[in-house]
Amino acid sequence: CGIVGYIGARQAQDVLVSGLAKLEYRGYDSAGVAIQQSEQNGGGMQVMKKAGKLANLAGELKTAPLSGTLGIGHTRWATHGLPNDTNAHPHATEDGQIVIIHNGIIENYLSLKAALMQRGHVFKSETDSEVLAHLIEEKYGQVGGNLYEAVRQALGEVRGAYGIVVTHANHREIVAARTVSPLVMGVGEGEMFLASDVPALLAYTRQMVFLHDGDMVVLSDDGFRVTDLAGNEVQRQIEHIDWDAEAAEKGGYDTYMLKEIYEQPTALTNTLIGRLHDDSGEVNLDINLDPSSFKRISIIACGTAYYAGLVGEYLIEQLARIPVEVDVASEYRYRNPIVSEDTLAIVISQSGETIDTLEALREAKKYGAKTLGVINAKGSSMTRELDDTLYIHAGPEIGVASTKAYTAMVSAMLLLALWLARARGTLDDAKAKELLHAARELPRLVEEALSPERVENIKRVAEKYAHSRDYLFLGRGVNAPTALEGALKLKEISYIHAEGYAAGEMKHGPIALIDSDLPVVVVATESRLLEKTISNVQEVRARAGKVIALLSDGDIENAQHADDVIYVPRSHEMVSPVVNVVALQLLSYFTATALGKDVDKPRNLAKSVTVE
Ligand code: G6P
Repeated sequence: CGIVGYIGARQAQDVLVSGLAKLEYRGYDSAGVAIQQSEQNGGGMQVMKKAGKLANLAGELKTAPLSGTLGIGHTRWATHGLPNDTNAHPHATEDGQIVIIHNGIIENYLSLKAALMQRGHVFKSETDSEVLAHLIEEKYGQVGGNLYEAVRQALGEVRGAYGIVVTHANHREIVAARTVSPLVMGVGEGEMFLASDVPALLAYTRQMVFLHDGDMVVLSDDGFRVTDLAGNEVQRQIEHIDWDAEAAEKGGYDTYMLKEIYEQPTALTNTLIGRLHDDSGEVNLDINLDPSSFKRISIIACGTAYYAGLVGEYLIEQLARIPVEVDVASEYRYRNPIVSEDTLAIVISQSGETIDTLEALREAKKYGAKTLGVINAKGSSMTRELDDTLYIHAGPEIGVASTKAYTAMVSAMLLLALWLARARGTLDDAKAKELLHAARELPRLVEEALSPERVENIKRVAEKYAHSRDYLFLGRGVNAPTALEGALKLKEISYIHAEGYAAGEMKHGPIALIDSDLPVVVVATESRLLEKTISNVQEVRARAGKVIALLSDGDIENAQHADDVIYVPRSHEMVSPVVNVVALQLLSYFTATALGKDVDKPRNLAKSVTVE
């Protein structure tokens, strides 16, 4: 979602609309603004919101302008609730005095809502954002009309991930806070700006302050004040941003792909948030299908999404003990698959538009399967035909080679496996809690996997082997698909021929290719099959192949079998594909850049393929 806020001497409406337009590349389905009317116009807060593209809202504002010099605006990429006028932000309290914009999810909103209702609050919508509005309104009364303090105290009761922006009809200030969703401030002369992303502000100022997780800020005409959520003052540097518009869209990274690789901790937080209930060992996926009614599962997808499906097969069979088969969509549609009413067809797709997957979905439906999507793009074609959709919430992915969508898909497949397993009684409480805990750790582990020293090491390895003609990737068990995905990434963006293989299968063919020119990447992180994988490493070594081993932190013993080692953070085996693949994304990235390739637009490929 995109956020813009303004306080100063200009007409706020102009700043909001132009800023939101710059966030268009993130995709959206509704937009809204709230503007504090000037005194001459009677004061008060005016809200205008419209479903559909920003142009709808902009058109409306052109014919009936809202005059005023303080305002907040939002474009929504719907996650919960339909993209209609009512669900668009900003949300106002009943008296219209307080308006809020909220990104993210309030995990404990049901209990907050129940308590507020008991105290007489009346709710109009089902949204967690409305709960926040009521809570702030209540606190506002209790703290004697201090808007900052009201927001701070309200957030003290909230559990979840959020970016929030609040203003009040009678206050010349904007209060904002963030945990996961990014927020940046623009500092002008006698004016202040706020946005979810730099491009929205570049036309107005280059003096910017990036807010950190847990920061709160108050913007006024002549400056800003940052505190933590406990109310202590915090110092944040003003930085001069000299990015051009394109660099700004890439968040200062050289490419979208690199930006998206680094966005993975946030993307994974968004995939998991509100869905893990550690106390009960349950997942809450809000899926309108009966998880105990299926006798078999078909997973259907293309490309990277197909590899996420292979991890899903492993997880579902291990945890829920249901037979799973995985097909590439172009095969599924023409192979006259065996489908019945107790089949669950799961389609996985970033775009929700890939024609092969869409047609395969139709095929499964035709034969009576129940259908569930694991999808990133809200409102995409597939979501309109599926019985239900589990959104992965990875945010827009621009780089053609998929990165954050893959890790988010794999995490979503883990959630599905847990959902099925719990309903079928194949997973006891203790084991469920252990896996939920492992899942909750993922954003932190991936953040750790992206630490500067690790990235530097991977870059060194990539450059060392960048001139190889071929590459082999090996892995076993739940990480066999990690090897396949590693090979796919490398060939997609560096054009080096690469093959991914189940490590144990190497001796039945690819072993003939091994010589001293062939780098072999082996995913050999902690697992119950590690010894077997190491035997495969020995087979490569014995034929003079170059071994690049992905090892768990601290595994010094197995390092001796490798020419180069890439250490990755230790993780529970069942979630390790998410952590491990990050190293392989970086390996292919730095190989491609060492060879001078255009990683965001690799030749011959398209982001979403709508031809058969
Ligand atoms: C294209 C892209 C791949 C992607 C595949 C499936 O081939 O280049 O990166 O994995 O389509 O896309 P989907 O949107 O269905 O996940």
